[in-house]
Amino acid sequence: MKQTVLVVGGGGREHAIVDALSRSAKVGKIYCAPGNAGIAAQAECVPLKDTDVDGLLAFAREKAIDLTVVGPEAALAAGIVDRFRAAGLKIFGHTQAATAIESSKEFAKELMFQRRVPTASYCTFRDYSQALTYVRAGSLPTVVKYDGLAAGKGVVVAMTLEEAEAALRDMLLDGRYGEGKVVIEEFLTGPEFSLMAFVSGRQVAPMVCAQDHKRAFDGDKGPNTGGMGAYTEAFAAGRSGLSFISDADYGFAVTKILQPVADAMADAGTPLTGVLYGGLMKTPDGIKVIEFNARFGDPETEVVLPRLETDIYDVFEAVACGGPIPQLHWKDESVLGVVLASNGYPGSYAKGAPIDIAPGYAERVYHMGTKRADDGRLQTAGGRVLMAVASAPSTPEAARRCYAAVGQIQCDNLFYRRDIAKFVL
Ligand code: AMP
Ligand code: GLY
Repeated sequence: MKQTVLVVGGGGREHAIVDALSRSAKVGKIYCAPGNAGIAAQAECVPLKDTDVDGLLAFAREKAIDLTVVGPEAALAAGIVDRFRAAGLKIFGHTQAATAIESSKEFAKELMFQRRVPTASYCTFRDYSQALTYVRAGSLPTVVKYDGLAAGKGVVVAMTLEEAEAALRDMLLDGRYGEGKVVIEEFLTGPEFSLMAFVSGRQVAPMVCAQDHKRAFDGDKGPNTGGMGAYTEAFAAGRSGLSFISDADYGFAVTKILQPVADAMADAGTPLTGVLYGGLMKTPDGIKVIEFNARFGDPETEVVLPRLETDIYDVFEAVACGGPIPQLHWKDESVLGVVLASNGYPGSYAKGAPIDIAPGYAERVYHMGTKRADDGRLQTAGGRVLMAVASAPSTPEAARRCYAAVGQIQCDNLFYRRDIAKFVL
């Protein structure tokens, strides 16, 4: 009998998860809460917020959901996994305690230092004047991070003392993100990349690497965003999925970074049972950790999951049940995705601009923030709106196909970067 699945979340990442599940031979009906206008073509959308744990639990019981898959960190941090498991329901994602690997930077840093996982040196402060004294005595640039979930916005790379001071004031005196501490870090240099793995207790099943583009504009200019595009590369250059990450780098990242974290979490009695995302940097001194996330990355998921040949239902179910994860098989192709975002994003932006996608549009388009107007027309409903994703035997060809596809999308309030994957082209 085919399985009924509920996906929690409503962005491009969840669209890619729904898309991967819809390729599974095991999966019948898919629900998505809250979903979006694009997801609605592949799943039944349910108007429940991702953090409405009571509502989601009641829904899962009522519909006899076989497996729930959680996308966003806010739902994990709200304890959705703990509640579903206590009710005897199967769910993919980390418990609230295990989500600390993302939700508390200090927790993640302490764990890395205990297990000798390479990362920037750091100090934690609650007191503004102590933090300021430390920054004044140290070198520049310096990195100031709010210790908690700040929707990717709680990080300031300060080039000057004034910038560092302003960040500390924001975070410690003005409570911009809430009550909390800051972590002040050594500034590292080198290309960044993302390595995600499915983790079931001590078993780590790494995915192929991808590279995100966090700045809003071409040439890595402009403010930090949730991510403006991503790519992963065919195996010609090695098994990592990125031509600038050697097999040795990849092996190091799995055995000296992801595995010790999985072991430490299991030893602490809070085993990982979902995705561990390493935001990594290839520094002149080797691979180091910038951050961990307790979930699939967005937009990395939209380029990585299309390469997965293994039935994703089997992977999710194995992790949800604490069983062995099946061997992962990946297509030997490059996948590249370009995000189309509302003008003004990541600052304020208008919603409700009509979108037209050419009939016969051939590539994947994942919806990140869209909805249908009353007349059925597609319109913008968020900062990041759509992600065009193309696959090809090589990265230059994937880029060519993807940008051709972007040209098929008409909307007068969207912008996008023209240099996704330029670093390797
Ligand atoms: P995070 O939210 O921790 O991933 O930080 C956001 C961005 O800030 C990262 O993608 C990096 O570009 C930058 N960043 C964070 N920590 C450091 C660091 N220690 N050295 C240099 N850049 C950093
Ligand atoms: N792409 C970065 C993130 O998902 O946090």
